[in-house]
Amino acid sequence: MIIGADGQLGSDLVPALKNHNLFCLTYPEFDILRTDQVEETLNALNPDIVINTAAYNRVDDGEEFPLDAFRLNALAVRDLARMCSDRDTELVHFSSDYVFDGRKRSPYTEEDSPSPLNVYGLTKLAGELFVRNLCRRYYIVRTSSLFGLAGCMGKGHNFVDLIIKRQEEGHPLRIVDDQRMTPTSTFELAERIRALIETNAYGLYHLSSRGDCTWYEYAGEVFHLLGIAPDLSPINSGDYLARARRPAYSVLDNGKAARTGVPEFSHWTEALENFMRKKGYIG
Ligand SMILES: NC(=O)c1ccc[n+]([C@@H]2O[C@H](COP(=O)([O-])OP(=O)(O)OC[C@H]3O[C@@H](n4cnc5c(N)ncnc54)[C@H](OP(=O)(O)O)[C@@H]3O)[C@@H](O)[C@H]2O)c1
Repeated sequence: MIIGADGQLGSDLVPALKNHNLFCLTYPEFDILRTDQVEETLNALNPDIVINTAAYNRVDDGEEFPLDAFRLNALAVRDLARMCSDRDTELVHFSSDYVFDGRKRSPYTEEDSPSPLNVYGLTKLAGELFVRNLCRRYYIVRTSSLFGLAGCMGKGHNFVDLIIKRQEEGHPLRIVDDQRMTPTSTFELAERIRALIETNAYGLYHLSSRGDCTWYEYAGEVFHLLGIAPDLSPINSGDYLARARRPAYSVLDNGKAARTGVPEFSHWTEALENFMRKKGYIG
């Protein structure tokens, strides 16, 4: 049972899991905040595995509306985790590189202590803790800076679509160059989720594309692939008036997943090129 099946990740999970008997649930018909509906649905469908992609993803808005973020990313996850645990149903849940504060300057492993800098990261960490404490059979997958064909529904766009649109509208692009992360393909992530859930090696995993970059370098690669030279310049986080603080470094170490038998990702630049080709940005 996939919650958020038409979201950015959900819409790539559906084809990746096509060999399974899938129940695809979409918002607002299915609302994870409605505990009674979640319970009724679990009773009716009796799934072996629940995959929850629903999330409050608007990182900056989360600072202003922390209760909305906490309800969706933590309390609804607690209820779902409890219901899955009562039925001994497997739960796959997604978290974020933003659970880390970025003070480490080498890739974060699952053993590193989270210390979120913003409300979004805090609520994602709370969701993780509920799953870990309530479920026996769970996979928590922390991932990073997703790009996929559907675009991030919660944010209304993903970074690639946004900067291309801004450039086409003639805006100068000032992009932060002091936050290092890994842009990650939802197409490749969905394939790896399929591999992971076939291992029965429950637990916490980091899954992201290979390599890393700053948001400015990421934008540079997008325009390099497009073959255009926009008005693009680097800025520091302090010059970008974002409401939420973000980690300066949030690269994830995928070693545990690799040791569990999950295939490695492509380098993010290769996955980006494939994405831009499929989306029709490049020929
Ligand atoms: N996007 C990123 O860069 C990123 C980075 C790290 C981790 N993650 C995590 O990865 C997961 C998937 O992200 P994504 O980019 O695929 O997000 P997304 O595109 O926003 O997909 C989430 C899906 O859940 C649905 N949804 C929203 N509220 C719901 C509710 N109350 N009940 C049921 N469904 C609801 C959304 O529907 P509507 O669109 O109609 O609201 C959407 O279809 C999330 O857990 C996210 O925190 C994402």
